[in-house]
Amino acid sequence: MSIPNVSSDPNGNWRPRPETAADTAAVRQVHLAAFGTAEEADLVDALRRDPRAWLPGLSYVADAPDGTPAAHALLTRCYVDEVPAVALAPCAVLPGYQKSGAGSAVIRALLAAARAAGERTALVLGHPPYYPRFGFVPAASRYGIRPPQPWPDDAFLALSLDDSIPPRGTVRYPAAFGID
Ligand SMILES: CC(C)(COP(=O)(O)OP(=O)(O)OC[C@H]1O[C@@H](n2cnc3c(N)ncnc32)[C@H](O)[C@@H]1OP(=O)(O)O)[C@@H](O)C(=O)NCCC(=O)NCCS
Repeated sequence: MSIPNVSSDPNGNWRPRPETAADTAAVRQVHLAAFGTAEEADLVDALRRDPRAWLPGLSYVADAPDGTPAAHALLTRCYVDEVPAVALAPCAVLPGYQKSGAGSAVIRALLAAARAAGERTALVLGHPPYYPRFGFVPAASRYGIRPPQPWPDDAFLALSLDDSIPPRGTVRYPAAFGID
């Protein structure tokens, strides 16, 4: 399925772009504030240190009109059996900017970058009502992509970035996720 051309940012308030080295501290702050714990911020930093997981150019921020990095979303290398795919996690928006299109803008731009980079399948474990707007569908029941743990079918989702049928198999996440 291709990525639907649906925008919750019709006025273009958010400016999504690849993160740079100067964004590292701001990205950490986005996750600390959004999740209220260091777990996701630490995960991002651990993924950044793992060259087998980190995909240069596939970590995106979205700037608010005043230039504040308000949202962050990340794709890292995972596998469906032995076939490479990308895992979308974590995604976060500064609390004061949530539900105003920043998350959608950064995720949509990130998925477009992944597609341009030749990535074929994206996977996410997340809020069931949120990710279908980007074209994600239940991975296990639709494509036979099994989660590494018994996650609910409506929360573990897959998106074909190139309209091909994704590979079947079991997903292996980067070690930093601590998922076996
Ligand atoms: C989830 C999150 C990334 C979404 O980004 P956002 O900029 O707030 O969302 P957007 O403005 O792009 O989209 C708004 C829509 O998302 C929905 N939404 C926002 N947060 C949601 C949540 N936690 N669960 C389900 N839906 C959610 C809104 O209800 C709204 O739905 P609508 O368009 O049908 O009215 C952001 O709210 C966030 O950082 N939340 C805290 C951290 C988190 O839960 N991260 C995701 C882990 S899977």
